[in-house]
Amino acid sequence: MLSKKMTDALNAQINKEMYSAYLYMAMSAYSDFQGLRGFAQWFSVQYEEEMSHAMRIYHYIQEQGAQVVLRAIEEPPKSFGKPLEMFEKTLEHEKYITKSINALVDLAIAEKDHATQIFLQWFVTEQVEEEANDNEIIDRLKMVGDQGNGLFMIDRELGVRKSEKEAEEES
Ligand SMILES: [Fe+2]
Ligand SMILES: [Fe+2]
Repeated sequence: MLSKKMTDALNAQINKEMYSAYLYMAMSAYSDFQGLRGFAQWFSVQYEEEMSHAMRIYHYIQEQGAQVVLRAIEEPPKSFGKPLEMFEKTLEHEKYITKSINALVDLAIAEKDHATQIFLQWFVTEQVEEEANDNEIIDRLKMVGDQGNGLFMIDRELGVRKSEKEAEEES
């Protein structure tokens, strides 16, 4: 059984994950418009991941017999500057999501809601990975600076990222 407070907080997290998806979809569109197809592909996969995070919480609320309540999704920005800036904004956003997940864990502990604590562990681990990935890409972007060749290489590398579905189809 989920408490009303826990249900509300999980529903709010669905909205944050949906916004994350929307934000990365906007970054993908922006990258494509800049001719950075690899960045566009990377953010498109990121968009799919965030949607799957939202759905993971959605199903958990339902499994617990509570009601999913969907709210309006905020409009994302339409431009994000240079690739380095875009990834700095991505990292900043992920840090905000990490805080939000931690607050959910705190609430689950306060409520002695063991099931939700365990459910949230996956997200705690996922956030460590997300921040590490962003930091790694930021380091590489800093290394190449405004050098066109380096940026072209990173764009090609990011372009090989596959969605879960594509990866499954190949294996
Ligand atoms: Fe997420
Ligand atoms: Fe994320």
